[in-house]
Amino acid sequence: MREQIEALLSTAIDTLIANGTLPAEVAPRIALDRPRDKSHGDFATNLALMLAKPAKQPPRALAEAIIAALPENNLISKTDIAGPGFINFTLNQDHLIDQLEAAWNDKHLGVPQAEQADTVVIDYSSPNLAKEMHVGHLRSTIIGDAVARTLSLQGHKVIPQNHVGDWGTQFGMLLAHMEDELKEQATETLELADLETFYKAAKARFDNEEGFADRARQLVVKLQGGDDYCLKLWKIFIETSMDHCQEVYDRLGVQLTRADVMAESAYNPDLPGVINDLKEKGLLVEDAGAQCVFLDEFKGKEGEPLPVIVQKKDGGYLYATTDLAAVRYRNDVLNATRMIYVTDARQALHFSQIFAVSRKANYVSDEIRLEHLGFGMVLGKDGRPYKSRDGGVTKLADLLDEAERRALDLIVSKGSELSPDEQKEVARVVGIASVKYADLSKNRTSDYMFDWDTMLSFDGNTAPYLLYANTRVKSVFQRAGVTPESVTGAILLATEQDQALAKKLALFPEVVASVGNKGMPHYLCGYLFELAGTFSSFYEACPILSADDENLKASRLKLAALTQRTLEKGLSLLGIETLERM
Ligand code: ARG
Repeated sequence: MREQIEALLSTAIDTLIANGTLPAEVAPRIALDRPRDKSHGDFATNLALMLAKPAKQPPRALAEAIIAALPENNLISKTDIAGPGFINFTLNQDHLIDQLEAAWNDKHLGVPQAEQADTVVIDYSSPNLAKEMHVGHLRSTIIGDAVARTLSLQGHKVIPQNHVGDWGTQFGMLLAHMEDELKEQATETLELADLETFYKAAKARFDNEEGFADRARQLVVKLQGGDDYCLKLWKIFIETSMDHCQEVYDRLGVQLTRADVMAESAYNPDLPGVINDLKEKGLLVEDAGAQCVFLDEFKGKEGEPLPVIVQKKDGGYLYATTDLAAVRYRNDVLNATRMIYVTDARQALHFSQIFAVSRKANYVSDEIRLEHLGFGMVLGKDGRPYKSRDGGVTKLADLLDEAERRALDLIVSKGSELSPDEQKEVARVVGIASVKYADLSKNRTSDYMFDWDTMLSFDGNTAPYLLYANTRVKSVFQRAGVTPESVTGAILLATEQDQALAKKLALFPEVVASVGNKGMPHYLCGYLFELAGTFSSFYEACPILSADDENLKASRLKLAALTQRTLEKGLSLLGIETLERM
């Protein structure tokens, strides 16, 4: 709807240029706002204010000219000029009804399928396997999952890539420690029940035990040289660590599987080729023995040139080298038309350098979108990075256990009628949903405070509130003795509340589009929260089941059913399971 009105405005501007009201050079950015105040209509634009100067006309007069130049349409029922020259549009209700009926009959709920589907490679989660997943990996994992699901709904081809860190010097100390443990336990298969403890033990020995660090370094060299014994140890470690990750993914309900893993080590064979290629293209400069790419757009604090180092003096490769190889693979083999990376914001410089070098070296063509979706840190109540009670990093698995435990306490304290087993299942869903939603509902670019009480509250923009709202809509159908799918009848917009709900419902495709475009799941959370609130006002003001007019009753049931489907679809895009009862 937004786009259609923008198109009408654009035609009007062309007309005004053609008749000389506006100079030919104006190329205004046509942007519509959603007025907060309903009396200002459904959309507003400040176009006349922006163009008043080049048109040499007072804004209100220009607004009138713009309105007069709008092509005929059945979209807008009313236009007003407000204040200094804003144009407000009120939508035609028949059009709104048509749109909702179309959404009702569409399995994508009115979300248009991309005309030119992208092949989107989305790199998310991507933990380092040396340690167990901790709270820092939560954000990448669930933001990436939500964006991937949204793009799929829009009809894009989505290729997840879990670029796990399975290579690098820390594996030396892990292998050295592992070697000893295996000997001690006289087994071939190491029980790595607790990766975190294992990592800490290895690190302590590396720092304190004589000879250990040397042995660790030798093992890395052997591992990188393809030594069978080292590779075998390494594989055992990686497999165990990956199993831990997969458990967390399954619990979180994110769609990643082992098939999506494309580990750093998988690019090892390509790295010499990347260096050669950059050399051939004349992009490499040797600096203090290291191979570097210098680009004009990257300067240090003092304006000194900032290198992207791709090979160390000792011949070793770096994180950046692997990422360049990955860009090539994603372009040449996966045929990506858009590449998205979901990592913490501190890697912003790394990715802008990777993107710039990739373009310079022609690893991707100009049309390919390269995007870094950066996110802020998870903070504790004290405003410092979130820590466990003992002051260590919180393992994700422990965090999820705690979420389920707290959700169960909450449900029990509310005096639930459900059986103990059902309560446990509800607690599982609510606990996981709360952790995910608390994260997804914040603007990802800012840090956010991890706080159990807020995320498990039934008030406000939270998972418990939305899950409960969803069960309330479902209960309307139970009481009516019909299923939401079986609802028929035409939508009538009899009262202000019916209209408000209809307008809110009609926004869903627009919200999905912006989530897919900007990689901002919190837009969707905010929308679902508003939708639930609008439904609740509607439900209070408009009797559904007791409406005496059968047509009105059927219309309201349909609006309720559409609300329920929209909530459910929206939550599924966020990767959040819903409940029948709670
Ligand atoms: N393993 C990295 C980390 O934990 C994230 C990798 C992100 N993806 C990439 N292609 N660099 O910080």
